[in-house]
Amino acid sequence: MLVSATEMLKKAKAGHYAVGQFNINNLEWTKSVLLTAQELNSPVILGVSEGAGKYMTGFKTVAAMVKAMDEELGITVPVALHLDHGTYEGCYKCIKAGFTSIMFDGSHYPIDENVAKTTELVHVAHALGLSIEAEVGSIGGEEDGVIGAGECADPDECKMVADLGVDMLAAGIGNIHGKYPENWAGLSFDTLDAIQQKTGVMPLVLHGGTGIPEDMIKKAIDLGVSKINVNTECQLSFQEATRKYIEDGKDLQGKGFDPRKLLAPGAEAIRATVKEKMELFGSIGKAND
Ligand code: 13P
Repeated sequence: MLVSATEMLKKAKAGHYAVGQFNINNLEWTKSVLLTAQELNSPVILGVSEGAGKYMTGFKTVAAMVKAMDEELGITVPVALHLDHGTYEGCYKCIKAGFTSIMFDGSHYPIDENVAKTTELVHVAHALGLSIEAEVGSIGGEEDGVIGAGECADPDECKMVADLGVDMLAAGIGNIHGKYPENWAGLSFDTLDAIQQKTGVMPLVLHGGTGIPEDMIKKAIDLGVSKINVNTECQLSFQEATRKYIEDGKDLQGKGFDPRKLLAPGAEAIRATVKEKMELFGSIGKAND
């Protein structure tokens, strides 16, 4: 069932768990995430970066595929189709294409411009029943060409943006897209705590979910994080399983070259990663809460 992320995140915040956003790249990714959410009776958010949208030939293709797949697989758990780190133009394209949720990443603009553009998009998104995420501070590292310095968010600016009526707020707290470096200082819980004090019931979003130790994830959820984004970890699981299939020579046996066989171990590996994350985030069994 395609829905906005508003209700599922309100429930997650009140219930002290987090909903996973799993970024999708193609049909296999989408199918793996949807089937796992349904099997575990968990709400889920499908994230689509602008780069992944382009790879899949455009947001219209993505929305049509996700809607049809959701229906044909008989998915009954709440699913939000969400633009990840959207530009201003990208947000409008996704609204038009039929996404149910958008993220406007105005974190690289001066705060006044971030506020002005976010305000406009909040009105447009809400008028059409979509949820909207905004960002303050920046997520370190690089994701599909979006590069962030990784500075921690200012809690007062977070309050200002939360008050614009967004449904979820991404705040930089030392998190990084991709693999964490050996010398990573960890999440800044002081910053997260200060943000949560200022923003109250606002569901907070933790980007860069790949490789964050379990205890830090749990502490972040305790401090108000209700949505956690995972991208790289599913890519690594897929890559490892696919590499093994080929290194074991399975593609050379019988009809092992058939893409439905070749891509099956990777798709299964994504399902295992999504399951592991849903267990950790506490969203299993929460679809009908
Ligand atoms: P990772 O690739 O580090 O899991 O981050 C995902 C993310 O934050 C998507 O916005």
